[in-house]
Amino acid sequence: MKIDRDAPIGVFDSGIGGLTVAREIMRNLPSEKVVYFGDTARVPYGNKSKETVLRYSRQIIRFLQEQKVKAIVIACNTASAFALDAVRHELEIPVLGVIEAGAVVAAKVTRNHRVGVIGTVGTIGSGIHKEQLQKLDPEITVIGKACPLFVPLVEEGWLHDPVTAEVAKRYLGELKVQEIDTLILGCTHYPLLRSTIQEIMGEHVRLVNPAYESALELKELLTRKGILASGKEEEEFPYRFYVSDLADEFKSFANSILPYDVEMTQKIDIEKY
Ligand code: DGL
Repeated sequence: MKIDRDAPIGVFDSGIGGLTVAREIMRNLPSEKVVYFGDTARVPYGNKSKETVLRYSRQIIRFLQEQKVKAIVIACNTASAFALDAVRHELEIPVLGVIEAGAVVAAKVTRNHRVGVIGTVGTIGSGIHKEQLQKLDPEITVIGKACPLFVPLVEEGWLHDPVTAEVAKRYLGELKVQEIDTLILGCTHYPLLRSTIQEIMGEHVRLVNPAYESALELKELLTRKGILASGKEEEEFPYRFYVSDLADEFKSFANSILPYDVEMTQKIDIEKY
């Protein structure tokens, strides 16, 4: 199948969190067009079953294919953990998750072979980071910790708040005693809590941001396949945003974190797909 290099990249998440990934794609691949889908009607995915998240992911992928995307980024750790393996074999275009790139960097930078992972209940329960890290280096001990309250705290906008710091201390205390030297921020929302997490863990713990690492992985993948955007095609809306609910709320959150003015956000009926 011939892929059009100037087609957009499809990026999806359970809601707003994947914007941290979209932001890195915009920064690191400025010539690429992006179609983003946030499943704001069915968020969160982090406490849903694998079957449900896989069904949702397939519906969104059908929608993105209708938008004629040239590649898909599953910008949600839970959906990457539950759906990537299955959907990768069902599509002719490249599909990327956000787990692998973070695992590769963590395996490279850890000195004491003790890596922590924080994420949703679904992601941590899936054991995917342990599987991937130990495939890269069987000597690595992986300590996972689900931090479910982080998502609502970020969505409330409490990024630098004593309540968030208190919750973080409680969650991260368990990882601190395990003497990890590397911590993967295995949920889309967590890069927004980076400074709080770093302060609690201490400067000696290296935080790995899979959103950034995945954007670099995407660049390498598009280059390898010869489908990086030519940069010649001008478009009125190079970034298009679709949601399954609450388009206005999505738009104001997106405008608060993206280095770009979000003008077009449209609600679509995802259950149709
Ligand atoms: N986007 C999800 C993730 O990265 C977090 C929010 C949710 O639970 O849906 O796992």
